[in-house]
Amino acid sequence: MNWSPNSWQQFPILQQPTYPDPEAHKAVLEQIAQQPPLVFAKESERLKQQLADVANGKAFLLQGGDCAESFRDFSANQIRDTLKVILQMAIVLTYAGRKPVVKVGRIAGQFAKPRSSDTEQRDGVSLDSYRGDIINATDFTVGARTPDPERLLKAYHQSTATLNLLRSMVQGGMADLHQVSRWNLDFVEGNEQCARYQELAGRIQDTLDFMEVCGVSSETHPALARTDLYTSHEALLLNYEQALTRQDSFSGQWYNCAAHMLWIGERTRQLDGAHIEYMRGIQNPIGIKVGPSVEGDDLIRLVDRLNPENEPGRLTLITRMGANKIAEKLPALAARVASEGRSVVWSSDPMHGNTVTSGNGFKTRSFDEILKEIQNFFQVLEAEGQHPGGVHLEMTGAHVTECLGGSYHVSEADLENCYRSQCDPRLNAQQVLELAFNIADCLR
Ligand code: PEP
Ligand code: CO
Repeated sequence: MNWSPNSWQQFPILQQPTYPDPEAHKAVLEQIAQQPPLVFAKESERLKQQLADVANGKAFLLQGGDCAESFRDFSANQIRDTLKVILQMAIVLTYAGRKPVVKVGRIAGQFAKPRSSDTEQRDGVSLDSYRGDIINATDFTVGARTPDPERLLKAYHQSTATLNLLRSMVQGGMADLHQVSRWNLDFVEGNEQCARYQELAGRIQDTLDFMEVCGVSSETHPALARTDLYTSHEALLLNYEQALTRQDSFSGQWYNCAAHMLWIGERTRQLDGAHIEYMRGIQNPIGIKVGPSVEGDDLIRLVDRLNPENEPGRLTLITRMGANKIAEKLPALAARVASEGRSVVWSSDPMHGNTVTSGNGFKTRSFDEILKEIQNFFQVLEAEGQHPGGVHLEMTGAHVTECLGGSYHVSEADLENCYRSQCDPRLNAQQVLELAFNIADCLR
């Protein structure tokens, strides 16, 4: 198919930084190309199999994590708490939907951000936009905003440390079903969502106690004691992705070994652009964001470029249209994909089409709009006879106040209390749990 890990370099590309010292940038990329991979081809193939089940309506996808990981907020506790909310949401959805939930974090590599403007203005001063910690820093100074190639190495090492901890937590006991009641985060305790969750945890515990009497325990059935958590990020910074693209020695195929799954953002999915060229050649499961401007013909062309063999599980269409626009735009797209017989996973990103600026100047999203987009997503796909396959969320286990509403009533005035995100607003653990119970109602 005339593809190589660097063939994208012959295509027009958007959203890339310009490094002041190209030689230093090149030297760092050479160093990264020598580093070990983070994940193996077999793991990505296993995820693709599980996503094929999602495409066929036999499983549900939960993809979530930070909008942008940061160097500042990197800690074991923060990784643990993100894992806890993912596990907690997954168990609520598994219980309601009676289907396996495939868990994919936006984690261990989610650093590079596309921006709607190349520059940012403050008080008459114009500087390069912040593009994620893998590129530059948030402070509004020339120094902080200048792309620094050393950040690529730092992001690589932070990703490896994050993945290392995640692997030991999910395999080493934290994901044991006997621990469900412990996945609750302290600050969620005492409210109505928590009571609802503890009731569900109690029911699961009862079942496990009964099974134990029948001879089924974590010792006899290790599957009860562990789970799979896959990693994903937006494949934006193609020089970095290329440096971690490796040829599988068994199959001779190319895989991006920086994450199990990669996606292409709304701003870089041009059919003849560099990002589509890069993504079509790697064998990982991939996603593509589908905003409200996409028309049926464009979508089919993208689907065919990225998944010419129509392999189930290979391609996830992540809709991000806005709570109202989705009801207007998605029916025709879903009908078209179905009538052309293309196998895809449909997943809903209810975050990026619902971003607003609050009266007091914060970038925020309202819980009700997020929920409404998901409900519309379910309704439209079911009406078209398609499987609403998953959700894609910006969320955190930290006790932040970044999104409005929810039963905890985060108000505009509350936003300044704990707004930590360096990019988009995330749901906090309490809002995630509430959303999980609402999605559970859609799944029933
Ligand atoms: C994102 O997922 O963080 C993102 C930038 O999304 P989109 O490309 O849909 O705007
Ligand atoms: Co975002």
